[in-house]
Amino acid sequence: MRKADIQFRKLVLVCTHEKLEGKACCAKKLSPEFFMNLKLAVAQRDPSIRVSRSGCLGNCQSGAVIAIMPDNVYLGEVRESDLDRLVNLITS
Ligand code: FES
Repeated sequence: MRKADIQFRKLVLVCTHEKLEGKACCAKKLSPEFFMNLKLAVAQRDPSIRVSRSGCLGNCQSGAVIAIMPDNVYLGEVRESDLDRLVNLITS
């Protein structure tokens, strides 16, 4: 094992996990466009922050869920209307 070539100041995980049979999940709360809009907006403001899709973050009833590391911030009930506020929070 070795240190990866590229290091990021922050890693933002956006749960896009989809569950079947009507179970609560983040995929039902946000559009796929939201993830790309967030990723692009954050990258434009601070390329040292990585925004990636993730699987289930264990908080499905509070979806959509986003984790900001290393800040150790877990956000629930994220909605499309939160985009600008979210970009400000992540890049602060
Ligand atoms: S499906 Fe997103 S936290 Fe479980």
